[in-house]
Amino acid sequence: MTRKSTKARRGWRTAATSDRHELYELAVQNVDFECSFIDRVMKTHRSRLPRTLREDFCGTFAASVGWVQHRKTNTAIAVDLDPSVLAWGRGHNLTKLNAEQAKRLDIRNADVLKVKTPAMDVVAAWNFSYFLFKSRAALMAYFRKVHADLVSDGLFILDAYGGSEAFTEVEEERNLDGFTYIWDQNKYNPITNEVLNYIHFRFPDGTEMRKAFTYDWRLWTLPEIQEALLEVGFKKVTVYWEGTDQKTGEGNGVFRPTRTGEACAGWIAYLVAEK
Ligand SMILES: C[S@@+](CC[C@H](N)C(=O)[O-])C[C@H]1O[C@@H](n2cnc3c(N)ncnc32)[C@H](O)[C@@H]1O
Repeated sequence: MTRKSTKARRGWRTAATSDRHELYELAVQNVDFECSFIDRVMKTHRSRLPRTLREDFCGTFAASVGWVQHRKTNTAIAVDLDPSVLAWGRGHNLTKLNAEQAKRLDIRNADVLKVKTPAMDVVAAWNFSYFLFKSRAALMAYFRKVHADLVSDGLFILDAYGGSEAFTEVEEERNLDGFTYIWDQNKYNPITNEVLNYIHFRFPDGTEMRKAFTYDWRLWTLPEIQEALLEVGFKKVTVYWEGTDQKTGEGNGVFRPTRTGEACAGWIAYLVAEK
């Protein structure tokens, strides 16, 4: 098949023929970036490369698959509560690994609060999944568990989003290859900071996949997250803030440690917590 015909075929995605997990990975995930970021922060904060990764709330465990491909000494444990999303990952992502790589990946259908794993170099919780813990007590119980599950110089890497627009009810669209990704901040409650967000997808024929994903979260702020991490025993927390592309004024994809961010309408940041 020529490149041209592949592209034309992609253009014919419709709601009925599309797979929500595939679209999610295309729209939201960047596994190469994640693996390089893990290496970079471990070298910066611990002067060594990491080997063992636990990917909490792993969904289709794309990052874990990337991690075992990234270096032949790497191992990963991928943890998710939902057997259906793990089954999708087994059918679509595990298949990208050869037998030797697959041996270095351990997929666990488990609760991140209860899972029993050996001490890890790195635990990662990405795409804001821990925002599902709505009370400070629940958030700290999770952070405490991660702290206990790390080796003595281990790192916990998380992301967070925010900005003035995060506290509003707004839809944001991004046109991707053959479909439109719609981030719908549907409800925001200023009394509790609870948010109800959806991901919808729209296709060139006008059909839509509504509420492909639903996120019932508390929008935790960076000071709250940092304080909770320090309170459960992490020694130091560093926020990695995204630089700005001078031409577009948008984020440039380069995250650097800093104590001072900008008052952007919307931002994504990473936190690195040192045991
Ligand atoms: C937002 S998705 C994250 C997917 C992936 N981490 C990513 O970066 O795109 C959240 C996932 O967390 C899982 N989940 C929710 N509560 C959980 C828990 N207590 N333990 C393990 N997984 C959980 C859900 O099944 C879902 O697959």
